[in-house]
Amino acid sequence: MTDLQTPADVRTLVSAFYDGIEADPLLGPYFADVDGAAHRERMVGFWCSVVFQSGEYRGRPFAPHARLAGLTREHFARWVARFRATVRARFEGPRADLAVARAEQIAGVFQVKLGLWAVEN
Ligand code: HEM
Repeated sequence: MTDLQTPADVRTLVSAFYDGIEADPLLGPYFADVDGAAHRERMVGFWCSVVFQSGEYRGRPFAPHARLAGLTREHFARWVARFRATVRARFEGPRADLAVARAEQIAGVFQVKLGLWAVEN
């Protein structure tokens, strides 16, 4: 197995992650009305920016998630598990590790922003 080496590898990863996501009972409903092709293009740019530090993604990743109703920590756990499994099944090396670490980190930040780690005082 090799590391993520080219944008084509990132495209492979993004396709594998989103192929069949509609069938996931937790995540599927959130992608029912999404323009899959446009979203995948954005995600290829996003993940290339992360693993190659190429800077092409200039979006604001959190914004669309603030509009998604009903997200829980279980949704994020599922998303991260799916992403990790998708990477690990295909790629191995520092860039693959960076992608997984960044996904976990961003999932954590999103959950804090959404108030999913609120504690009772
Ligand atoms: C519960 C988990 C998640 C769900 C259900 C979800 C769902 C979505 C949806 C519906 C969109 C908008 C698609 C569109 O209409 O174009 C989106 C965009 C995006 N998501 Fe997630 N997401 C989740 C977690 C994450 C995590 C953990 C990351 C971390 C890498 C992430 C990264 C992004 C990025 C970069 C975009 C594009 C933002 C932009 O428009 O520039 N998502 N996501």
